[in-house]
Amino acid sequence: MTSHSGMKIKDLEFKKFITASKINEKVSELASKINHDYKALSPVFLPVLNGSFMFTSDLLKEIKLPCRVSFVKISSYSGTSSTGQLKTLIGHDESLFNQDIIIIEDIVDSGLTLDKIMQDMKGLGARSVEAISLLRKKPAREKNIEVKYVGFELDMEFVVGYGLDYDGYGRNHKDIYKLTEGTIE
Ligand code: IMP
Repeated sequence: MTSHSGMKIKDLEFKKFITASKINEKVSELASKINHDYKALSPVFLPVLNGSFMFTSDLLKEIKLPCRVSFVKISSYSGTSSTGQLKTLIGHDESLFNQDIIIIEDIVDSGLTLDKIMQDMKGLGARSVEAISLLRKKPAREKNIEVKYVGFELDMEFVVGYGLDYDGYGRNHKDIYKLTEGTIE
């Protein structure tokens, strides 16, 4: 349910935090930087599903370079090894050997997901691997997770909208909302 500046998803209240027009401005700014930094190159964008679908769509409309796009997903399954939960990257169908890769994330929190993907890409023989994330939270900054292009820096807010979800809901909003109080474990 949405009102003028707030909405409820299941048991939690969210309020408007970053408006669609601010997001659009930022997306254009990030696209210009990439157009500049990669001129004369032909990068392969790897958006990480599900959260990055809306950001990816808007960003790529402003990329003026010859480029390819291949959506990827992290699938987690319980392994038999003692490490328990194993994560693997699925979906990259382009050959990535010797390519300039740009990973597109919606949000980097602990940075574990991005770090894992970047290591995998380097292992596949990519020529360069960089990342862009619309949002970055404090833990990733503190751990110096390398994200070359960042839209907005957050503290520890839990956010939804513009592709981001709470328990599967909220991805369809054009603005970003934050939790009004409390935290999600
Ligand atoms: P990390 O591996 O801790 O960096 O987690 C990154 C992933 O966690 C993101 O791609 C999101 O799917 C999810 N995530 C982290 N913070 C939020 C949030 O505030 N809202 C929605 N999803 C989040």
